[in-house]
Amino acid sequence: MLLNVLTCAHALLKESLKEGDTAIDATCGNGYDTLFLSQTVGPSGKVYGFDIQEQAIQNTKATLYENDCHNVTLIQDSHEKIHSNIKEEIFGGAIFNLGYLPKSDKSIVTKAPSTIASVEAILKKLKTNGLIVLVIYYGHPGGGEEKEAVLSYASQLNQKEYQVLRYQFINQQNQAPFLIAIEKKKRSAS
Ligand SMILES: C[S@@+](CC[C@H](N)C(=O)[O-])C[C@H]1O[C@@H](n2cnc3c(N)ncnc32)[C@H](O)[C@@H]1O
Repeated sequence: MLLNVLTCAHALLKESLKEGDTAIDATCGNGYDTLFLSQTVGPSGKVYGFDIQEQAIQNTKATLYENDCHNVTLIQDSHEKIHSNIKEEIFGGAIFNLGYLPKSDKSIVTKAPSTIASVEAILKKLKTNGLIVLVIYYGHPGGGEEKEAVLSYASQLNQKEYQVLRYQFINQQNQAPFLIAIEKKKRSAS
């Protein structure tokens, strides 16, 4: 059976993240991805969760509390400020869920410049074979521009350094979300 986009995002990250890794949820929202990362890296690992909205931070805090997760630091800030908020030198992986917080203000959305700046910052510190996974929702105003900018950025990454995957159902209506996964390859000896 084909995996839906979110399940596929988690399955890919589960393959590459190890217990004890540091992982990033760049868009916490209601905390479902934060919870997944927290459980995947385990008590010896660490998760940093970013969101610009107080409501999202509170929702994520509640999700983590209900699930007894204590390895997460939540940061109410924009995700491109990774380096000023995190000291760890190596990241195991990261997830972005683009768009707006469900059942909330639909005008507060992720935007291409900060999304791409954040992806760039994370790639610099990503472990070999580490993954950044972006779930791209684009049906809302501004979503189309962000989608095009992210696709253009990701498709131009040097293939000697990164593998970039697009996972998408091509017969779905209503601008169904799709996934981009960026894997950092081992540097070849030169
Ligand atoms: C689709 S929701 C995320 C859903 C979430 N992953 C979950 O599991 O519930 C997108 C979130 O991105 C947040 N966001 C928008 N711009 C942001 C930025 N520059 N930095 C961090 N978060 C941002 C929004 O506030 C919103 O909560």
